[in-house]
Amino acid sequence: MHVCEYSAYQGYICIFLFNKQTVTLLRGEPGRHGDNLSESASQRSRRRRCPHQPNPSSALTPSYSGFPPFSSTTRTEHPVLRTKKERENTNSTAAAMAVEGKSKVLVIGGTGYIGRFMVEASAKAGNPTFLLLRKSSAESANSHRAKLLQGFKDAGVTFLYGDLYDHKSLVSAVKLVDVVISTIGTESVEEQTRIIDAIKEAGNVKRFFPSEFGNDVDRVHAVEPVKSAYEEKAKIRRLLEAEGIPHTIVSSNFFAGYFLPSLAQPGFLSSPPRDKVIVLGDGNPKAVFVSEEDVGTYTIRAAEDPRTLNKIVYLRPPANILSFNELVALWERKIGKTLEKIYVHEEAGDHTNFEIEPSFGVEASELYPDVKYTTVSEILDQFV
Ligand SMILES: NC(=O)c1ccc[n+]([C@@H]2O[C@H](COP(=O)([O-])OP(=O)(O)OC[C@H]3O[C@@H](n4cnc5c(N)ncnc54)[C@H](OP(=O)(O)O)[C@@H]3O)[C@@H](O)[C@H]2O)c1
Repeated sequence: MHVCEYSAYQGYICIFLFNKQTVTLLRGEPGRHGDNLSESASQRSRRRRCPHQPNPSSALTPSYSGFPPFSSTTRTEHPVLRTKKERENTNSTAAAMAVEGKSKVLVIGGTGYIGRFMVEASAKAGNPTFLLLRKSSAESANSHRAKLLQGFKDAGVTFLYGDLYDHKSLVSAVKLVDVVISTIGTESVEEQTRIIDAIKEAGNVKRFFPSEFGNDVDRVHAVEPVKSAYEEKAKIRRLLEAEGIPHTIVSSNFFAGYFLPSLAQPGFLSSPPRDKVIVLGDGNPKAVFVSEEDVGTYTIRAAEDPRTLNKIVYLRPPANILSFNELVALWERKIGKTLEKIYVHEEAGDHTNFEIEPSFGVEASELYPDVKYTTVSEILDQFV
């Protein structure tokens, strides 16, 4: 199965082939993906992403349009910069939308691809929600960004100016909350040691979610350039264990919005192919697809759950575990047509080739059976 979790490396657009033991890299076409957000570093990296990544206007990214329209200048705030009265007002804004007794949640990287779903899920669940925001990001003239921030604001989210590289801002932000979720981009994963330093200094955080949200880096073997990224994520895991910081790892497998619009095909497809598909190997290994919204929902549910403390939460919703052959067959049934199959000789890997043992992990759809997750079938319906 194609794996595009890490797609913004060394200027390549990449198609990763995820084998049982290795992950290999093919080169793809450079930078044709149209992301009309402004050019921050993470956004530049996003622009270089694998073609399987959806366009922000895709039907699969509901939160891009899921908030009310932007109508006024977004005001961002920081506890260090604000007066005591402003601080009280800010806290009461968050509190007004919040459900009593809910954990206060800080998202670092909440303007990013997956981070915005964390912010949205947290606010929706009634958690007082805080977003650490770079000033440059807040002041971006880009209309998508402005709309996103206005939506957050309308949902009661409190904005805090800050930066990974500004220790004081991190400590100030972390001190305000119980839960810290990092959705820093892959290229900055190692910089999360700065968040860990701040959490140690603040001393109040009950749960930290490092930026993972992909494969289980301790259980998947990879080759470069993916190997280095996995190693960086694994190093953060070891540091959290060594420092005794209460944490939860979310292993979300494939973001559905990355893979399903193209049916995991190379190229810049905005909807699944209707004539032919490339099949790697025999197409039988299983992969797991999870909608970005559900990644956010499950993460927020896990944040206050003692059963997920110092554990890996695997997202394996049963209806969304499919082999490539099953995925294609599902699509064929929907469009009432049999596609031509082009087989590429490549052994493909499996997301479910290890058992989740209670000593290290739990499965989200078992923990939270009340969450009505979006199925692959429902997502494909949008493209019929
Ligand atoms: N499972 C999958 O299919 C899959 C796919 C993609 C990614 N992932 C994983 O998901 C995680 C998040 O990746 P992503 O692609 O969502 O990230 P992203 O879109 O690149 O977003 C990164 C976020 O970090 C913020 N940021 C960057 N530098 C910062 C700094 N110095 N101070 C404060 N904030 C800063 C960015 O702010 P600005 O908006 O201001 O730039 C942005 O909000 C990663 O661990 C990645 O490996 C998984």
